[in-house]
Amino acid sequence: MSKIDPLTDGHRRLIRDVRVSVTDRCNFRCQYCMPAEGLPWLERDAVLSFEELERLVGVLSSMGVHDVRLTGGEPLVRRDFPRLAAMLAKVPGVEDLSVTTNGFLLERDAEALVAAGINRFNVSVDSLQRDRFFEMTRRDALPRVLRGLEKLATFPDAHPIKINAVGMRGFTETEIVPMAEFARSHPYQVRFIEFMPLDADHSWDPSLVLTGDEIRAAIHEVYPLEAEPREPSATARVYRFADGKGRIGFINPLSEPFCGDCDRIRVTAEGKLRTCLFSLHETDLRGPLREGVSDDELREIIRDAVWRKELKHHVNEPGFRQPERTMSQIGG
Ligand code: 5AD
Ligand code: SF4
Repeated sequence: MSKIDPLTDGHRRLIRDVRVSVTDRCNFRCQYCMPAEGLPWLERDAVLSFEELERLVGVLSSMGVHDVRLTGGEPLVRRDFPRLAAMLAKVPGVEDLSVTTNGFLLERDAEALVAAGINRFNVSVDSLQRDRFFEMTRRDALPRVLRGLEKLATFPDAHPIKINAVGMRGFTETEIVPMAEFARSHPYQVRFIEFMPLDADHSWDPSLVLTGDEIRAAIHEVYPLEAEPREPSATARVYRFADGKGRIGFINPLSEPFCGDCDRIRVTAEGKLRTCLFSLHETDLRGPLREGVSDDELREIIRDAVWRKELKHHVNEPGFRQPERTMSQIGG
C-alpha cells in the first residue's frame, strides 16, 4: 500500500476528497435542482452496489483520498443506507465520512448514521417559513426536517452540524435575517451557497445569483460579523457574530471561485467519475468494476481521468455550456 502515489491532477492539485452519490432518487423537488415532475430514475442494477462502492472507496483511499462525502439525490432514500455508511466507515484510509441530506428522513436515521460512523452532516434548509420552504422544495416538509435536525443535535458525535441554504435572488432576501437568527440560537453553522447552473429547467441566469457578499452585508447590518481565518481548501468563508453567538459561512463558487485549490472529485450513482461539477466529460468506472479489473488497473483509469481535471469552471464566461446532468444526478 505504501508505494502507491497520491492522486494528483495535471495542475498539480492533490485530490483528497470524493463526493459519492449513492442514488439519483430524491423525495424533494428543489427548484434549483429538479423539475416538479421528477426525473427518470436509474434502473436499480445501473446503480453501484454496496460492495462496488466499498471497493471503489478503498481504491480511492489507497491513493490518498481520505475524505468521503455521501450524497444523492437524497442519500437516505437508498435502502439500508446506514449499513452502507457502516461499511464505508470501516474502509482503511477513510478519515472523514460525511453526509449531505435534505433532512426528511433524519428523525428515522440520525441515530443509526451516527452509530455507523458518519461524523459530519450537512442538511439543506432554504427557508424557515413553512410556505416558502414548500415553494422552494415543492414538499410541505419544514416541521419534519426541523425535527430531524433536533434529533441529530442530541448526538454529540454529529457536531458541528451545517445547514446549507442556496441563495437565489427573488427568493432568499427575506430568509437572510431569520437564517442568521437561527444560526445564533441553535448549535448549527448556516452556510449560504450561490445558485449554480445545475438546475433541471435550465432557468439559471446570472441575475438570479444572490452573491455571498450581498447576503453577508445584509446580515452585518443587523448582526455585525467578523471574519475568521480561512482554512486551506475550505470552500466556505466563515464569519463569527461579533457578540460571540455562533458562526455563519458563505460558499461563493461564482463570485469568488475556489477552483485553484479544489481537491475533490465526484462519482455519480451509476459509477461515472466526474472531475468537476461542470464537467462535460466523465469516465465510466462501473464497466471496469464489473468486468473484474484489478485494483491497479482501476487506479490507472482513475489517475488518467483525474490528470485531465479541469483547471476551473467557466460559468462566468461567454460560451459556457451547462452540463446535461442536474445537481441531483451529479451529487452535491
Ligand atoms: N446551486 C447551488 N447549490 C445547489 N444545491 C443543489 N442544487 C444547487 C444549485 N443549482 C445544493 C443543495 C444541497 C447540496 C447537495 O447542493 O442545497 O445542499
Ligand atoms: Fe433533492 Fe437535494 Fe436536489 Fe433538493 S437539492 S431536489 S433535496 S437532490
